[in-house]
Amino acid sequence: MSTPLLSVRDLSTHFPVRKGLFGRGTQVVRAVDGITFELPHGETLGLVGESGCGKSTLGRTVLRLLSPTSGHIEFEGTDITHMPQADLRPLRRRMQIVFQDPFGSLNPRMTVRAAIGEAMRIHRLASGPEDERKRVAALMERVGLRPDTMERYPHEFSGGQRQRIGIARALAVEPKLIVADEPVSALDVSIQAQIVNLLMDLQDDLGIGFLFIAHDLKVVEHVSHRVAVMYLGRIVELASSEALVGDPKHPYTRALLAAVPEARPRAKREKRRLLTGDVPSPIAPPPGCPFHPRCPIAEPDRCAREVPRLRALADGRQVACHLADEGHASDA
Ligand SMILES: Nc1ncnc2c1ncn2[C@@H]1O[C@H](COP(=O)(O)OP(=O)(O)OP(=O)(O)O)[C@@H](O)[C@H]1O
Ligand SMILES: [Mg+2]
Repeated sequence: MSTPLLSVRDLSTHFPVRKGLFGRGTQVVRAVDGITFELPHGETLGLVGESGCGKSTLGRTVLRLLSPTSGHIEFEGTDITHMPQADLRPLRRRMQIVFQDPFGSLNPRMTVRAAIGEAMRIHRLASGPEDERKRVAALMERVGLRPDTMERYPHEFSGGQRQRIGIARALAVEPKLIVADEPVSALDVSIQAQIVNLLMDLQDDLGIGFLFIAHDLKVVEHVSHRVAVMYLGRIVELASSEALVGDPKHPYTRALLAAVPEARPRAKREKRRLLTGDVPSPIAPPPGCPFHPRCPIAEPDRCAREVPRLRALADGRQVACHLADEGHASDA
């Protein structure tokens, strides 16, 4: 088998925080807590889950923008888990991030040309100012922006255009992996589709692998080959988009999908089991299955005591639920 673009094993990122304002000692936020997955070249893995489940922390950790507490990260077969920042620098070119709010990540005093050209200069990709200008123009064209607007500033562009600038900036260094953290969440619905289609075109043309983070399951389903559902820092289900949306096995996945009924138009009218209660604190996750206090099918004895491991079902998907057997969980 060929080496995956990204391979993550048992990855945890914990944040020590002070106990209360005047408290003594520290507690630990288990933002990412034992995650394992592989991303093949040129594929998209969607990451979904409620706010605070650790999606951004996971995305930033695999890029080594955050330091992992334990586990392993391999990028194109190279172990980067503890690689010093100086050694990471040449690899940074190959792994980029696109943020939700490109306005926040673009310097308001830099023209678009300067913003896109900056990364090229850091990695010495252009042979001179004229080559850089040409490359910036080509990139702008590639992402659907008019090159004759390159001397303008970010505030002169619309939200969707700014996101295109953010994408062009990421593309400038010819990455193989892009972590897209809620790249369309701040945009109007009509614009979202354009940006999503642009990202998918870029993937087809350039073979880029994406870790695509979003709240909106419909968007994630559309762009992703496979989807990982996260809950309290862990993956609770990982399956192809079709399997996940068409026949979700984990009660949490089903609850997330029930919140978007139009995501399953052909499914029989199911009792809408919307999620109740808040996500428990990642400082003190519940014992046993972390989802059991909110789970509609939890069995008190087993689910409150035994942590369900992520295991493979016959169709190849992975699920972390004691009760999600082939037949059982899909008849709800
Ligand atoms: N630097 C930090 N220090 C302490 N706790 C943190 C830090 N960064 C994130 N957290 C906590 O880690 C958990 C996961 O946060 P994260 O931002 O990764 O979630 P998320 O899934 O991206 O949420 P959202 O959908 O709101 O963006 C949350 O409880 C958050 O409060
Ligand atoms: Mg986030």
